[in-house]
Amino acid sequence: MRILVTGKNGQLGKSIQKIINEQGNSPRSNNEQQVNDFLFVGREELDLSSENNINYYFNNNDKFDIIINCAACTQVDKAEKETELANQINHLAVKQLASIASKQKAKLIHISTDYVFDGDSNKPYLETDKPNPINVYGKTKLAGEKALQEIMPTNAMIIRTSWVYSEYGNNFVKTMLNLGKERDELNVVSDQIGSPTYATDLAGAILEIIDNKDKKQSTEIYHYSNEGEISWYDFAKEIFELVDIRCAVKPITTQQYPTPARRPKNTLMNKAKIAKTFSVGISDWKESLNTCITILKEQ
Ligand SMILES: NC(=O)c1ccc[n+]([C@@H]2O[C@H](COP(=O)([O-])OP(=O)(O)OC[C@H]3O[C@@H](n4cnc5c(N)ncnc54)[C@H](OP(=O)(O)O)[C@@H]3O)[C@@H](O)[C@H]2O)c1
Repeated sequence: MRILVTGKNGQLGKSIQKIINEQGNSPRSNNEQQVNDFLFVGREELDLSSENNINYYFNNNDKFDIIINCAACTQVDKAEKETELANQINHLAVKQLASIASKQKAKLIHISTDYVFDGDSNKPYLETDKPNPINVYGKTKLAGEKALQEIMPTNAMIIRTSWVYSEYGNNFVKTMLNLGKERDELNVVSDQIGSPTYATDLAGAILEIIDNKDKKQSTEIYHYSNEGEISWYDFAKEIFELVDIRCAVKPITTQQYPTPARRPKNTLMNKAKIAKTFSVGISDWKESLNTCITILKEQ
């Protein structure tokens, strides 16, 4: 199978590449001994910021069997000002990818976000709960989800994830490690609740889903993150504990830390559907954080 992965330089794109490389440079085989041929592309090869570029790329490449869209405009605060760009990448490009996938009869696996919710719920969000995004990033990601579902009522899947971190790029874990080395004390928001996601775990889940062959025809939404219910403050404290950084962490409220984009308060997601449908294992957040920090320490 020819599998295209967009966003090759992002956290998730790199994590998928890491797993594929660890499995050996030979093409990956699935349970039915079918050879999978992965092609990873970044904006140099497939720039999602223009319709023409996207068409040009697909007109000049052979058809794919699966497209995994890991690319996105993920800078939540920047998106408040760069609305048009966020809408292009998170919505219009997804719509175009869905049209192309549909024509090619390729399966489209698209990644979305917990930020499609307003965060006002007091229980973990189900896939059937009504989205109500409160910032531009969430609104554009939801528009992407809707466009995809409309164009591809079958043969696609949307995986919503949250608080992604990894060895790669910029993320909360790496920011805390850097700040913790420079400062004696840090204020971290304690009234936003969610679950972190180690990008390698999500990458592994996506590859398992491909290997296990999604027999479902209808396009479905799934939620995926690590297990656990924490605040950014809890997250920071655990990061410092694991690396033995003596930086005092002080809890503050969202109000005390104003940002251009509003953040939802509680975006815990219920992961039962993905776990049951694909027998995907979901690790505890502390276990996965430990794995990532061990790798970071070795670098
Ligand atoms: N990060 C999170 O906390 C989080 C939370 C919830 C959901 N998600 C979702 O999870 C998915 C993966 O996120 P991630 O953390 O891996 O994101 P990431 O590290 O920010 O990677 C996103 C990738 O998209 C690429 N991209 C941006 N604009 C592009 C363009 N015009 N053309 C082609 N590629 C472009 C970026 O390329 P460059 O490297 O060249 O900039 C980057 O490599 C995304 O769908 C995101 O919305 C992320």
